Amino acid sequence: MIIGIDIGATTTRAVALEGSEIIGMETVRTTDTQASAHSVLDKILQNIGRDSKDVEQIAISGGGARRIGETILNLPVARVDEIRAIGLGGLALSGKQKALIVSMGTGTALVVAFEGGKVIRHIGGTGVGGGTVEGLSRRMLGTDRFEVLEEMAEKGNASKVDLTVADIAGGPVGIVPAEATASNFGKLRTDASKDDVAAAIFNMVSQVIGVVTAMAAKGYNLEEDVVLVGKLIQSKKIAEVIRQVAELFQMKLCIPGNGEYCVAIGAAKAICQSMKT
Ligand SMILES: Nc1ncnc2c1ncn2[C@@H]1O[C@H](COP(=O)(O)OP(=O)(O)OP(=O)(O)O)[C@@H](O)[C@H]1O
Ligand SMILES: [Mg+2]
Repeated sequence: MIIGIDIGATTTRAVALEGSEIIGMETVRTTDTQASAHSVLDKILQNIGRDSKDVEQIAISGGGARRIGETILNLPVARVDEIRAIGLGGLALSGKQKALIVSMGTGTALVVAFEGGKVIRHIGGTGVGGGTVEGLSRRMLGTDRFEVLEEMAEKGNASKVDLTVADIAGGPVGIVPAEATASNFGKLRTDASKDDVAAAIFNMVSQVIGVVTAMAAKGYNLEEDVVLVGKLIQSKKIAEVIRQVAELFQMKLCIPGNGEYCVAIGAAKAICQSMKT
């Protein structure tokens, strides 16, 4: 059995892999990197009813991986570069041989993978992500609880806050329909409700990620193979807005289940591969 651990900025996740089968998944909040890695490992072993003796290797990835020592619970640790883990995890979750994989966590990273993972490249990203939703909301709305914010965004009306193409031009412009955003937050006045502002925050974050993704997909001819992973895309509201952007730019999205475990799965897969060769 191989355990893949992803120490993200917000969350630490683990998966247990036996052969190519996932036999367990577990999540804890990232507090202290070493402590969070310990605790997620404890938790996953307990839940699948296994002992640390059953673990051949621990694969560790994510932003916090660098701060982990050589062993956890006396088990050897192999570090896997997060970009490689995103690439391999995205291909495994989608069943594709090539893809643009967008990791939507606290921040957003874009990775292209070709030839079943033989070629994996970090092509960029944006600091706009889940952390942006939480940070702006903390200041503007007095809460950063994601589930509460999502409910507010569902009730709110972003067009009270965002300037649309119709507001400026009175109708569609070129390829852009009348209801598309011309300027996120461009119309924000004191009469907008908190729900409207929440809707606008969700709009801006989803649209920035959506547009950056569309440009990258076109640049790499991967419009048919866009895979969205990370916790943020599990949000119904975020996914809904990104789907609208995808329609506008004619790209085909794949949003696999368990996408928040992409990095942990990819890390474990990378170790499996290196053990075979
Ligand atoms: N229930 C939820 N549904 C969707 N998104 C959520 C939910 N709860 C929190 N989030 C968002 O998920 C983000 C964290 O995502 P994730 O756990 O994938 O990041 P991470 O791996 O810790 O960060 P990074 O990969 O950038 O280091 C938070 O910033 C928050 O905005
Ligand atoms: Mg992450």
